[in-house]
Amino acid sequence: MSRGSEIIRETLAGPSIFKDEGALSIDYVPISLPHRDEKLKFLAQLFRFTLEKPGSMNQKVLITGNIGTGKTAVCQRFGIDLMKVAKSRKINLKYIHVNCRECRGSLFLVLKKVLGEFVPSFPQRGYSSEELLQMFMDILDKNNAFAILGLDETESLIRTEGSGPLYNLTRVHEGRLDKPMRLSLICILRQPEYLKRLDGSTLGTLQQNIIEMEPYSIEQLVAILENRVTLSFREGTVPDESIRFVAELASTTGDARYAIELLWRSAKHADLEAKRQLEPEHIRKAVSSVYPTIRGDYVKTLTRQERIVLLAIARALESSGSAYVTMGEIEEIYRIVCEELREASRAHTQLWKCVRELSASGIIEAKKSGKGVRGRTTMVGLTTASASAMRKWLEFSFTSHGRNSIDRPF
Ligand SMILES: Nc1ncnc2c1ncn2[C@@H]1O[C@H](COP(=O)(O)OP(=O)(O)OP(=O)(O)O)[C@@H](O)[C@H]1O
Ligand SMILES: [Mg+2]
Repeated sequence: MSRGSEIIRETLAGPSIFKDEGALSIDYVPISLPHRDEKLKFLAQLFRFTLEKPGSMNQKVLITGNIGTGKTAVCQRFGIDLMKVAKSRKINLKYIHVNCRECRGSLFLVLKKVLGEFVPSFPQRGYSSEELLQMFMDILDKNNAFAILGLDETESLIRTEGSGPLYNLTRVHEGRLDKPMRLSLICILRQPEYLKRLDGSTLGTLQQNIIEMEPYSIEQLVAILENRVTLSFREGTVPDESIRFVAELASTTGDARYAIELLWRSAKHADLEAKRQLEPEHIRKAVSSVYPTIRGDYVKTLTRQERIVLLAIARALESSGSAYVTMGEIEEIYRIVCEELREASRAHTQLWKCVRELSASGIIEAKKSGKGVRGRTTMVGLTTASASAMRKWLEFSFTSHGRNSIDRPF
């Protein structure tokens, strides 16, 4: 037996304080969301027509709030539960949650994903997004179905395509005079400043129903964590004191994602030491390796090449000490990183394309420099994390240890 498999067998034979890690994973949608009942009730009020008089109207809702305040979780939970109730009333209602960042801010890709929910082998090419939207409406008509589209991280769509997509989506019923209204919209937005980029009437429409998610307080984070602890850990392995400590650490930002991630990673430290309980020391150890601003699901969707480019950007920024670096500086370091990783480096245009994609997904910011600064060149900065945290994180992701846990390096 190889040493590697020996280690894996030993690990599995060892004790674990976890009962079910799944309930701590990024994709888990909690059954109950402590301290978000009011928001769920408001959503239910806004969408009660879908159950009482489907087709009589359509709804547009905007959800805003800081990172980790439950925007995505509330929306997904609401969608799942609303579909259940609709089904029991024999109403064909579908909630479709699409992350615009994962669709690279493209309405075409968003709609392709939406249509994929109805027509699994949807043709790849040859249509415009307007045509796709029309096809979507036709499918809804044909099936006498109603849909709520949850557009998560809408800023990505606005950043890449401006006002157009939301304009079209919010007005889709205007040309369908005698037909039922079939499509409603929930836009989720972390950065409200993006609203300024919308045209006046789309903005007005969206602003009629705003749900604001406030950051969580310590007590609220404690309640959220207690809930997850019951689901994920063996009884008696996570003392109240540890839960409170994690909540306190996360309360500066009020970010539930950070709290849950910290809990998960602390527990991994406890398991590593074969302890029967999660102790404050495990949490302290975990703090140094959890970067609140680097989101696992952000990086999960990146290709290897994109991670290499991102690493080059992080290193360039770190060594320059400035907020932005030029494409030239990035390219130089990019070649070195490729050599280190024994990866063939791509040509300038490919590198440029990659930077544009990263910028569309919001991980970096790419902008044209002002005239005379350094000629007219593209300047690149990091928006989601400090350069050193990003560098460490990415370097880890290329190690054999990190490769297998790219979304959650430990
Ligand atoms: N009230 C809650 N109860 C239980 N879990 C919660 C609650 N709020 C958030 N969470 C959990 O915290 C994590 C982050 O929440 P979520 O992804 O909904 O945040 P978000 O507001 O969408 O953040 P971002 O702006 O970064 O996308 C998720 O794992 C989610 O399940
Ligand atoms: Mg979210």
